[in-house]
Amino acid sequence: MSNCRLLFTFAAAIWFAALGRCLAEDPQIATQIVDALNKVYGAHPGFRANHAKGIVLEGTFKASPDAANLSKAAIFDGSAIPVTVRFSDAGGVPNVPDGSKGLPHGMAIKYHLKDGSETDMVLVSLKFFPVSTGADFRDFLLAVAASPPTAPKPTQLDLFFKSHPIAPSALASTSTPDSFADEQYNGIDAFIFVDKTGKRQPVRYMMMPEKLVHIDSEEAAKKSPDFLIDDITARVGRGPVTFHLKAQLAAPGDQTKDPTRPWPADRKVVDLGVLTIDKVVADSLAAQKKLLFLPGALIPGIEESDDPLIDVRDGAYVVSYGRRNP
Ligand code: HEM
Repeated sequence: MSNCRLLFTFAAAIWFAALGRCLAEDPQIATQIVDALNKVYGAHPGFRANHAKGIVLEGTFKASPDAANLSKAAIFDGSAIPVTVRFSDAGGVPNVPDGSKGLPHGMAIKYHLKDGSETDMVLVSLKFFPVSTGADFRDFLLAVAASPPTAPKPTQLDLFFKSHPIAPSALASTSTPDSFADEQYNGIDAFIFVDKTGKRQPVRYMMMPEKLVHIDSEEAAKKSPDFLIDDITARVGRGPVTFHLKAQLAAPGDQTKDPTRPWPADRKVVDLGVLTIDKVVADSLAAQKKLLFLPGALIPGIEESDDPLIDVRDGAYVVSYGRRNP
């Protein structure tokens, strides 16, 4: 079977599984969210409803021995696992300037296992999320759409922020990096690691760069619209770019269901291994259209927590995938 057909088979299997889970929760929410994203950003055929602009690269992940002690997942067996990585700009506008003020950036990773199975991580540069349910995310987007600069005060967005006071601080928790390679990306939703003895440990992912470099909005405004895409292409051309995948471990009693509430910063952090990116794929635009990353595409040893956003995200990503590959 060709790589493309394999990918399609895998995507279709995940698609139906994710849709099934999402439908069990709320039949309409995934579609309503993608409709709301299209309302805010416009519909751009062939592109993602969110994180529309991006670039696809390849590399490997090699786990640390500590990772295998925490989870029996095959990605942590210490061998070099091939990965597909997509860096992105948030929002549904395919030509958004990379340095737009307040724009979060994303990093999605697909791990290709020896047995042909795959698992994904979908991370963002926000420190925590503005809302904790799919319905609130839909309502936030609808409030944005109803609040152009000409809207009478208080706008719908003013009212949304009043009833969700954590949302503005979540949206302000990111700034422009000088490179996709110099940013920290966070998992935000909690997942559960299961070790070989069955012991369960809630974790949140952190993808740490070798160095973190942010630029101020004045400098960002002077950059070319595609500076992050151009920079990562040039960097990978000069040599490999590396990150450390880390897990923040919940302490007993820490909640796992609310992505608006980060765990205290003093929680233990374990280095899970090194991600090395060494190649930009030849036709990134075509590759990204066919790729589907899902936060809930998991393998034994990594399970969903009780955070409802994981299933909502799976459902919405699948709806968006269906629209960009009709
Ligand atoms: C209710 C919550 C959320 C909803 C409804 C949502 C919705 C979406 C949608 C519809 C897409 C386009 C998917 C596609 O066409 O393949 C997307 C992409 C993405 N989202 Fe979310 N999102 C949510 C929360 C999050 C969170 C918490 C993170 C990170 C921790 C995140 C990171 C990303 C990234 C990195 C992408 C681009 C993935 C790629 O490169 O294919 N999102 N999101």
